[in-house]
Order: sequence, then C-alpha cells, then structure tokens
Amino acid sequence: MSNPLLAARSLVKAHGSTPALRGASVDLRAGEILAVTGASGSGKSTLLHCLAGIVRPDTGTVEYAGERLDRLPEKRLSELRRTDFGVVFQFGQLIPELTAVDNVALPLLLAGTPRTAAREQAGEWLERFGVRGQEALRPGEMSGGQAQRVSLARALVTGPKVVFADEPTGALDSLAGEQAMTALIHTARESGTAVLLITHDAQVAAYADREVSLRDGVVTAEWAAGAPAEGAAGTAAEPSAEATR
Ligand SMILES: Nc1ncnc2c1ncn2[C@@H]1O[C@H](COP(=O)(O)OP(=O)(O)OP(=O)(O)O)[C@@H](O)[C@H]1O
Ligand SMILES: [Mg+2]
Repeated sequence: MSNPLLAARSLVKAHGSTPALRGASVDLRAGEILAVTGASGSGKSTLLHCLAGIVRPDTGTVEYAGERLDRLPEKRLSELRRTDFGVVFQFGQLIPELTAVDNVALPLLLAGTPRTAAREQAGEWLERFGVRGQEALRPGEMSGGQAQRVSLARALVTGPKVVFADEPTGALDSLAGEQAMTALIHTARESGTAVLLITHDAQVAAYADREVSLRDGVVTAEWAAGAPAEGAAGTAAEPSAEATR
C-alpha cells in the first residue's frame, strides 16, 4: 500500500479547558475519499482543522507529503493551504462582501490568475454545483444549501490535492445533497483529489473508500468501503491497527 499523503499521529488538542482531541491518528492516501463520522462534539471539525494546517495540535504530528505541518512556519502553511488544500467549512465562511462568483474566483486571484479568466472558471464551477444563475448573490442572500454549494466550488476551483469538507451537504435536502456529493466525488475521482469528508449521514459516508469514526477525540473504528452495516456500530469489520492502538 502506498505511503499516506497525509498522516496524523496521536493528536491532542484542547479548546481552553475543553478537550477536543485526545490522541487521534488518521491517514489519508492520495486520491482517497475518507469519511469521518462521530457524534456531535466528538472532535471531527477540530481534527479537520489540524489536518488542514488551520489549527496546530497541542501535541502529536501531522505530516503532509513529507512536511511536518504541525511545525511549519505560518507563511509556508498559508502557502500550502492556497496551493494544495481546499476547505469547505462547516459554517460556510464565505466572504460576506463578495458575490458567489467572486467568492469562488478569490483563490484563483490569490494564485495570480487574471480576473476575467478567474471569473470564467468560477462560473463553470458554480454550474457544476448547480448554482449557475446565482453568481451575483452575496452570502447573506443565499440559502444555506446555496452557500454550501458555492463553498464546494470555492474549495475545488484551484485543483487542490486534498479537499477537506466539513458536513458539506448538511443544509441540503436529500436530492440536492446527492447532486452536490456526486459532483464532488466525480471531480475528485477525475482529478485524483483526496477528500476528507465529515458527515453525520450514512448515505454520504457510503460514497467514501473508507470510513473512520471518532469518539471523545479518538478514532475508535475504521471500515473499508461498503463494510459497515446498519446497526453494526462498534463492530468494525476491519479494525485497523490505529483504531485498536
Ligand atoms: N472554538 C472552540 N472553543 C471552545 N470549545 C470548542 C471550540 N471548538 C470546539 N470546541 C469543543 O471541542 C469539542 C470538539 O468540537 P468539534 O467542533 O471538533 O466537534 P464535532 O465533532 O465537529 O461536532 P459537530 O458534529 O457538532 O460539528 C466539543 O466539546 C466542542 O464543544
Ligand atoms: Mg463539527
């Protein structure tokens, strides 16, 4: 099996006095789609933020393509976040002053793409996610589902190596959610992008190659694609070394 593209070991992170991660370890391979599940408050978003180099763990290591993210200077981290990572935040976090098309074009502009080309590409991504025609809306004028689709387009527009998506379909009904997931998975498969996908939804997790489950800040179970059965929580078909360590 190839080396992981991203490897986190024994991550510990507290928010003030609240522990969020208590020794979580997880791997993501190039091109792999990994679902992360777990109850509310189990540490999923915190794990994503540590893996994406947005938050530094208190202890533990995060290695990305041979670099130790947990030790990198902020300048190199923000460069990596621009070039290699795309993030869909749980609460959207689009820039309120910018329209849909300009939110999506922004990462391209930051990477030096001329404005006209950036807006054109942004429009194509909005189309893929079914929000063509809403280019001129600002986040305050969008529904939750529209904002999520714009966030997905923004995360993918630069062709990142890894997309981190935190409940990207949480505000969508099942049909719209399925369409957005299909667009995300199709794009990722086509371009070999790895995806770390946080979800509460078993149907969404079913799109992944593998699923890990968090409980109280540690990975407690891991399944290969298609392995988990309904009602089989805690009876991992293939418990990994990590999960049982
Ligand atoms: N900024 C913060 N300040 C204080 N506590 C926080 C903060 N962010 C998270 N926490 C706490 O850390 C723990 C883990 O939070 P996290 O957001 O990682 O969970 P989660 O699994 O993503 O939950 P959800 O499914 O509800 O999004 C929780 O107890 C939460 O209350
Ligand atoms: Mg969360």
